Amino acid sequence: MFIAGNWKLNCNISEAKTLSSGIIKCLLNKELNCEVAVFPPYICLDSVKKTIEDSNLKLGAQDCSIHKSGAYTGDISANMLFDTGCKYVIVGHSERRTGKCESNNDILSKVNNALEAGLIPIICVGESVEDRDDGRAIDVIKKQLDESVPKNINKNNIMIAYEPIWAIGTGRVPNNSSINEMLNMIKDWLVNNERDSSINILYGGSVNKSNAEEIFLCSNIGGLLIGGVSLKADEFSEICLMVN
Ligand code: PGA
Repeated sequence: MFIAGNWKLNCNISEAKTLSSGIIKCLLNKELNCEVAVFPPYICLDSVKKTIEDSNLKLGAQDCSIHKSGAYTGDISANMLFDTGCKYVIVGHSERRTGKCESNNDILSKVNNALEAGLIPIICVGESVEDRDDGRAIDVIKKQLDESVPKNINKNNIMIAYEPIWAIGTGRVPNNSSINEMLNMIKDWLVNNERDSSINILYGGSVNKSNAEEIFLCSNIGGLLIGGVSLKADEFSEICLMVN
């Protein structure tokens, strides 16, 4: 089981150090049955890396460039992130797919760069409320998988996160049968497309301490991608400690 805390565009360096050491403190001497990683903004990566050095927390980045190097002002490459101490990188988050017009093809480039750099990419997929209302949710996600998941993957080098866009930051969470339907569909896609079907599949979207226990009951769930609540050390840690 894997729990990811996506801090998004939050925290200055001092706040990032306080948040990461707060999580370490909450998890100290407790039985932790999952891998926990935090995903601070780029500028905080180095400070957080130093703060979590002797702990069981791992480090990830929220995105990487489609390019490896060159004249791409403002970009950060997968290699640079690996060099900074990241183990994971989120790619294809809906806030980038929609907000930054990222295509499935862009995401595939990022995934390949991440794999080549030795990072574990977490590929986000998910439908909009319109897709869902029009009965297109499954087709949209299958297309995202078809076009952004490479062939050379296995459970040790990649994860997939199902994040319905309408659930992100809204307080609306699909019921377990709906989450199960999507997780099973992604599993079936992996099997039917000759990919490793034991790849971890996470759920993300408005997870908090009151709904996490229920979500953990979903079959085939490999963990959680948590946004807003990952900024609260005590609540985030409480969710991590629910894994048994
Ligand atoms: P949320 O964000 O937990 O705040 O809904 C999840 C995400 O965007 O990964």
